[in-house]
Amino acid sequence: MLRRHLLLAAAAFIFFLFFLRRSAGDSPVAISCRSFCGNITVDYPLGLRRGCGHPAFRDLLFCVNGALMLLLPSGTYLARAIDYPYNALTLHDAAMATCATAGIGGAGGFVVEPWRAPFLSPSPDTAFLLLGCRGVRRHLPCGDVAGMGCDSYRRCPAWEAAQPCCAVSYPTVGAVNLTQLDCEGYSGAYSLAPVRPGPAAEWSYGIRVSYSVPAEHDESCRRCEASGGACGHEPAPPWGRLCLCGARNSTSSCDSGERKP
Ligand SMILES: *[C@@H]1O[C@H](CO)[C@@H](O)[C@H](O)[C@H]1NC(C)=O
Ligand SMILES: *[C@@H]1O[C@H](CO)[C@@H](O)[C@H](O)[C@H]1NC(C)=O
Ligand SMILES: *[C@@H]1O[C@H](CO)[C@@H](O)[C@H](O)[C@H]1NC(C)=O
Repeated sequence: MLRRHLLLAAAAFIFFLFFLRRSAGDSPVAISCRSFCGNITVDYPLGLRRGCGHPAFRDLLFCVNGALMLLLPSGTYLARAIDYPYNALTLHDAAMATCATAGIGGAGGFVVEPWRAPFLSPSPDTAFLLLGCRGVRRHLPCGDVAGMGCDSYRRCPAWEAAQPCCAVSYPTVGAVNLTQLDCEGYSGAYSLAPVRPGPAAEWSYGIRVSYSVPAEHDESCRRCEASGGACGHEPAPPWGRLCLCGARNSTSSCDSGERKP
């Protein structure tokens, strides 16, 4: 009698294990576009892998030996941090000057591709200090930006006495193209309000860049992720937005019938 019970229990247990395995295998595995570079997490709307993230940020970020790099027509920048709650990236340009260093030369400034510009732009609290500008090709709106300006910067150890200096914010100049502006170099510093920046030696050097995508794109991405997909885009023109569902891609969500081959 006891033997029969034991056999039944064992059979039930094996059946249970079999069923557990099966159901686990059948449930859709959530696809993810999340990547890591060094200790930085890259996630929507940004992307590291081909076809991942919003198409506005394609061919932008690269991971080189554990360093996250951001590539623009004006140069390559080191992305030191991504602040997802504030939709911002903190960049550093090895070619730019800081209070302590004169820069390595060959700085290009900061120029975003016109098609990408609506989605990626230095924040208004980033001061660009244009250095050694010769011909005044056009009237530059020089003045302190977020409490940072040339008066304080001129007290820096790396300052070259005769060099002209003009502090501008990105929105007032549109693009910081050092060739076009006829400047020798630049320095960038950002201030995280509401903290007032102190003397130039204590500023945070770098460029704070804001990224954004239309709200309805964020919404459709949330629907895609809720269905177990990852938000991506076509790997070639016209770079349409896609919900990546693993074996197939969809234009909306992994639950919907709309498919894209
Ligand atoms: C990431 O690593 C760098 C140095 O490797 C360190 O300075 C930074 O604080 C780290 N950031 C985080 C968020 O852990
Ligand atoms: C889905 O889209 C991704 C990203 O564009 C692409 O790499 C992949 O080949 C597509 N998968 C299918 C099954 O078409
Ligand atoms: C900067 O301006 C120069 C001269 O107008 C132009 O040739 C160059 O392509 C521009 N650089 C960038 C990165 O847009």
